[in-house]
Amino acid sequence: MPPIGLIGGSGIYEMAGLEMREERTVSTPFGEPSSDYRIGSLDGRDIIFLPRHGSPHAIPPHRVNYRANIWGFRSLGVERIITVNAVGGINRGMPPGSIVILDQIIDMTAGARPSTFYEEGRVVHVDFTDPYCPEMRDAILGVSRESGIPVAERGTYICVNGPRLETAQEIRFFSRIGADVVGMTGMPEAVLARELEICMAGIAVVTNYAAGISASKLTTTEVIETMEDSLSRVRILLREAVRAVAGTRGCPCRDALKDAIL
Ligand code: HPA
Repeated sequence: MPPIGLIGGSGIYEMAGLEMREERTVSTPFGEPSSDYRIGSLDGRDIIFLPRHGSPHAIPPHRVNYRANIWGFRSLGVERIITVNAVGGINRGMPPGSIVILDQIIDMTAGARPSTFYEEGRVVHVDFTDPYCPEMRDAILGVSRESGIPVAERGTYICVNGPRLETAQEIRFFSRIGADVVGMTGMPEAVLARELEICMAGIAVVTNYAAGISASKLTTTEVIETMEDSLSRVRILLREAVRAVAGTRGCPCRDALKDAIL
């Protein structure tokens, strides 16, 4: 069975049932991934973990080499990736501490980050109607119900370039166009996976209310503390999700390039 990829902060990989075997350096035609890939197993299933911001945490969101990270996973045989992202809550129904199983994306980074593997030679317009794998989403929602860990069952992630935080008016605008949460790393990660026919699920952890939603000034301490509080629930979800998503793929992601190449 192909290994399951996990992308997130290093906090997610201190998980019960996890045994690490090796660290693998991978180089790609797109440069260096954020760090070595950490290969191991979780309750007997092969997993490969990559800390998105490097190890130690030093690569800001707009400088992450998303293409190398996703290409590296593919070269290690990964067909499914679960990502964990810290986000600001725009929707008041998703207060700090909420876990959101994402279903939609609005990309405000377009043009600012390399966002395709197909620059020259081949013209590819990959379908992105549903940016996250529907099969993996269903599996994670099932796991949340079984394990009694509450999640918001859908949510639209708006991705900004950062590294600055948003203005209050930007957040009001994002709210009007339907965004529930805001973050800096969800794109182009998700589309790059789709371009390589890799399934991706997005678990967003609301670490703060977005700018202007609450009266208090946003601090990175708040972000880190809320993330740490939520991590025990995220780890349980991840552990069960790795079990639940294994098996043959029946989703459209696996042949995303069919009918996408001009
Ligand atoms: N804005 C953008 N990215 C974020 C935020 C935020 O408020 N919180 C965590 N990541």
